[in-house]
Amino acid sequence: VGRLSEQDVTLLRRAIRLAMSGRGHVEPNPMVACVIARDGRVIGEGYHAQFGGPHAEPTALARCEEDPRGATAYVTLEPCCHTNKKTPPCAPRLIEAGIARVVIGCLDSNPAVNGNGVAMLRAAGIVVDPAAPERADVQAEAKQLIAPFLLRHSHHQPYVTMKWTQTSDGCVSLYHSPLRISSPAGRKLVHELRARCDAILVGVHTAWIDNPMLTVRHVPQVRTPRRLVVDTELRLPHESRLIASAGEVPTTFFCATATASTPRAEALRRAGVQVIGVPELFSQEGISLLHVLRELPDVTHLLVEPGPTLAESFFNTGLVDRLWVFRSRTVLAGPHGLAAADIPPDFVETGTLAAGDDELTEYLNPKSPAFFAATPSADFVLARSPVV
Ligand SMILES: NC(=O)c1ccc[n+]([C@@H]2O[C@H](COP(=O)([O-])OP(=O)(O)OC[C@H]3O[C@@H](n4cnc5c(N)ncnc54)[C@H](OP(=O)(O)O)[C@@H]3O)[C@@H](O)[C@H]2O)c1
Ligand SMILES: [Zn+2]
Repeated sequence: VGRLSEQDVTLLRRAIRLAMSGRGHVEPNPMVACVIARDGRVIGEGYHAQFGGPHAEPTALARCEEDPRGATAYVTLEPCCHTNKKTPPCAPRLIEAGIARVVIGCLDSNPAVNGNGVAMLRAAGIVVDPAAPERADVQAEAKQLIAPFLLRHSHHQPYVTMKWTQTSDGCVSLYHSPLRISSPAGRKLVHELRARCDAILVGVHTAWIDNPMLTVRHVPQVRTPRRLVVDTELRLPHESRLIASAGEVPTTFFCATATASTPRAEALRRAGVQVIGVPELFSQEGISLLHVLRELPDVTHLLVEPGPTLAESFFNTGLVDRLWVFRSRTVLAGPHGLAAADIPPDFVETGTLAAGDDELTEYLNPKSPAFFAATPSADFVLARSPVV
């Protein structure tokens, strides 16, 4: 007989779903939740709701409707045991509360924890059952939940979500002019996604033709994402809204290394824009996207809102982790349409949902180092049903 019952798996998945409620508020920490149950009956649960705020385990313990002594705690991530951080460690809290068994989604790769949380619990006589190896599928779901956090720590680069909206005939705009494609419901989802990301990146053509603000509107503002533009020669006119508003909203331009020390770069800096030079890539268009990502140490989630050119470059470099495509059911571009980039054929679909007149489909890149399971992301689940 295995150590994990179907009931254990159900409660662990409940914790994974609950953890998603912290999306947008806890980064750069991972989303974590804890469900406490006795004989399969939930007696308390909680999630990490705010960066710097209490962890999931003490919240769940505090919310228990009855004494948790002898109960089982289901945690999406190995409980922490280190003291060099904002909040007291969770493993001792579970021990003090008399928890008899802890079921863990995945271990914490943070070297200060990584197995030490499990060891501390076991030393106190608690039965600890990690999902893997017996239920490697559920461990993979627990890792997928925190894929951006794991990527940030293992590869020192942001998790890249690419998003575009296309017409019913597969176009993203007209040649050389924008086209309003998304429905109000689709736009709201985009702004919610923006509000949970740390930065938004566009190519210079989009900055020029669409003249976007790339700010968060019509939804609660969780944070202000930094606006990023890849512009090899810094050609974008200073009248553009991105440059004109750089004094109010943090804005960074990435250009070729040599361009970063030209008078054009200096003029941009005087306008309040941060300018960063990165190597050009002669094998493809523009500057090295990998170098761009490496220049973003504070970004866990990067949202790319590309035209077809930038989309193709990102696909070619293999740096896209997740793709959201909104498909209009009503808008047609006609013969003057600019076709969307081709979605790599190996990308796996995790789901589709209706947003007004649009349909949103999520895809994950199975070759990404941050791919563990073909399950819908927290953002997608929240878009489908925001209330837990
Ligand atoms: N429907 C939608 O969701 C949506 C979203 C965005 C845009 N659009 C539409 O897309 C159109 C613009 O798309 P686009 O394909 O022409 O341009 P784009 O992707 O917005 O920008 C491409 C430009 O970015 C610069 N760049 C720098 N480094 C790059 C790199 N590594 N890879 C690729 N580009 C790099 C290049 O110009 P330099 O060499 O001069 O630096 C390149 O030509 C607009 O009409 C806009 O309305 C639609
Ligand atoms: Zn903790």
